Amino acid sequence: MDAVLSKNDLSEVIESDRAHVWHHLLQHKALETNDPQIMVEGKGMRVWDATGKEFLDAVSGGVWTVNVGYGRTSIADAVRDQLVKMNYFANAAGSIPGSLFAKKLTEKMPGMTRVYYSNSGSEANEKVFKMVRQISHRRHGGKKSKILYRERDYHGTTITALSACGQPQRAAEYGPYTPGFVEVPHCLEYRNQFDSPEDYGARAANAIEEVILREGPDTIGAICLEPITAGGGVIVPPKGYWERVQEICDRYEILIHIDEVVCGVGRTGEWFGYQHYGVKPDFVTMAKGVASGYAAISCTVTTEEVFNQFKDDASDPLGFFRDISTFGGCASGPAAALENMRIIEDENLLENTDRMGERLMDNLRTLQDKHSVIGEVRGKGLLVGAELVKDRTTREPADEAMVQAVVAHCRKQGVIIGMTNRSLPGLNNTLCLAPALISTSDDIDEISSAIGEALGAVFG
Ligand SMILES: Cc1ncc(COP(=O)(O)O)c(C=O)c1O
Repeated sequence: MDAVLSKNDLSEVIESDRAHVWHHLLQHKALETNDPQIMVEGKGMRVWDATGKEFLDAVSGGVWTVNVGYGRTSIADAVRDQLVKMNYFANAAGSIPGSLFAKKLTEKMPGMTRVYYSNSGSEANEKVFKMVRQISHRRHGGKKSKILYRERDYHGTTITALSACGQPQRAAEYGPYTPGFVEVPHCLEYRNQFDSPEDYGARAANAIEEVILREGPDTIGAICLEPITAGGGVIVPPKGYWERVQEICDRYEILIHIDEVVCGVGRTGEWFGYQHYGVKPDFVTMAKGVASGYAAISCTVTTEEVFNQFKDDASDPLGFFRDISTFGGCASGPAAALENMRIIEDENLLENTDRMGERLMDNLRTLQDKHSVIGEVRGKGLLVGAELVKDRTTREPADEAMVQAVVAHCRKQGVIIGMTNRSLPGLNNTLCLAPALISTSDDIDEISSAIGEALGAVFG
């Protein structure tokens, strides 16, 4: 670490944080007796906190964001250069990086042509919900306004995003919710909820059709799905699932909205998660990895067909997308995103993600032979989960406190991993891993070995 920071140097920071900062997703009682953790520096895969302790970060900044790793001076330079030239103008006007990134991005997404900029995954998803509602008003006389979402998926933190939340603990106590959102069943075969064990992929997709028929196809405008469910337990869709979802949506004229906030921009070894499955989306949203956390940026990407519905009657004062995103006009976001994408291309990070993801899954499967508590290992690229169970036969979930103890033990060893966190009552039992796309074999082996140690210490 270049700057050696002793605890004393940062005591003022720690006290100020304790006194004034309200952290996300944290119960603060513990901070009355423990110091808040302050992250001070990052380089590559590693971060250092205010005590000087070094960590290998297996969750890319906690929430799967820093895809190209810490300390990228070329991104910092691109952002700085852009800020001193032109930092901001509201997005009714364009910007140089906004224009260039939209072109570069849509080149990676055949069939998609238009990019709407905003600042968070929640906001990007809200844009789609608004577009679907406006299409309903203008094209369908108010019909086709409902939006389907899936059990165990997450789409963001605002009240409407929580109205589309398949994770009950995330949404609990924040109602009343926005009406018109309807849940469909999850597609996690390990927790098969149907009678027939056969052809689970088609069965889980058919369950969506059952909901559509129950609600009435003419009431439903869109379905919002994660390509691979991330925080809900790393759920890789079963064989045949996406093909059937596409057929169902085509049949009932339901628009497909893929939430790529986690999977987008390389995380699963393709540019986008849906590209593993041949899906043809109408909307794709993305945020975290778009600029790896070097600037706040999210994108709502649509087809030209969707876009054209918002410009065909120039005489109508309400006949266009009347959304405003003040900070969608920050030029730092697309400037960082352009450089982030260049790094992924020039360093062959998609290919690395594929190889390192395989290695991580192999390592975890080796651990599974030793530790009966690992019920299932699943993932794609560097989005990997290990579901912990008390008993492999009954698949009874491991106690949440024990899973938390595994995470804590890894942290003690200097490796930061994650888990399903306040998401699913009784099912917060999956260890979640999303190391940066620059991971090396040594990093992957260090992460795996810390998990092995922790499982041994906690479960024996
Ligand atoms: C799949 C998915 N969609 C949307 C969001 C919301 O993104 P943000 O926190 O940037 O609003 C998240 C955040 O974790 C997410 O995992």
